[in-house]
Amino acid sequence: MRQRGVSTGFRALILGAAAGGGLPQWNCGCRNCNLARQGEIAPQTQSSLAVTGDGRHWTVLNASPDIRDQFTRTPALHPTGQRELPLSSVLVTNGDIDHVAGLLTLREMQPFTLLATAGIHDILSNNPIFDALNPEVVTRSTVTLEVPFSIAPGLQATLFPVPGKTPLYMERIGEEVRTDVIGDQTVGVKLEADGDVAYYIPGCAYLSPDLADRIDGADLVLFDGTLWRDDEMRLAGVGVKTGKRMGHMSMSGPEGSIAAFAPLDIGRKVYVHMNNTNPVFRPDAPERAEAEAAGWMIGQDGMEIQL
Ligand code: MLT
Ligand code: MN
Ligand code: ZN
Repeated sequence: MRQRGVSTGFRALILGAAAGGGLPQWNCGCRNCNLARQGEIAPQTQSSLAVTGDGRHWTVLNASPDIRDQFTRTPALHPTGQRELPLSSVLVTNGDIDHVAGLLTLREMQPFTLLATAGIHDILSNNPIFDALNPEVVTRSTVTLEVPFSIAPGLQATLFPVPGKTPLYMERIGEEVRTDVIGDQTVGVKLEADGDVAYYIPGCAYLSPDLADRIDGADLVLFDGTLWRDDEMRLAGVGVKTGKRMGHMSMSGPEGSIAAFAPLDIGRKVYVHMNNTNPVFRPDAPERAEAEAAGWMIGQDGMEIQL
């Protein structure tokens, strides 16, 4: 086993722990959404993570529709001058609405670098509404898979493919939907600061042997926790889609992430991108106890992780 670093360089802030829709989702009357409306469980915003290697320059991984509120309640991201922000770059890991819609909030002539693979940049440039990000101010930079790059001072990143599917809004009636495409439209992020290694993988259809090998030995993995079980949305009476159909592996069961991660040596395992139906959002749920007993932390808005 590799010696784990004692550096205080790498920090991650969970800006939004929920999947698309958030908790509560505007139109959802499931148990969790009702509990969140009643103040019985903590509401959670949509999928986003802020990371830094030096505590002064931050990168936001995924721009969720809730990004305005996420910036407001995160002092580390507040302006440091009239129009100065401690934000170096924004990186998106796929073209899903919960990961790109917040880019529209980031107009206002604020300079930053927008990082994505060629495939994800194509999705953005085929949607003219994203031209709201003035190219003279926001630089779009294409990242090549498997090539490490400096994402912020003191922080290296490498993008790699993970099995996933094209964004829901690009599915076409009559066309077969592949939910486990391995290419450059769904990626994970490796982050390295001062010898510490973290992975951010908010969407993943299955943990391939390659992917398991890649993350084995990491100090931290933040991973797709969309559903507890594949047919959870049907059981909750809120839809017919399975997790598999959405390109997400479940937490539980023989093919789930709890089982897949069990043989791996990972310092900290944190679930992110949880759908509002996921029972782990309830502190007293047996499913949550089961995940925690397997060494997982359930991510939540505002959670800070320091390596
Ligand atoms: C997903 O993660 O499956 C998507 O965010 C779903 C969606 O776009 O609603
Ligand atoms: Mn999503
Ligand atoms: Zn709900």
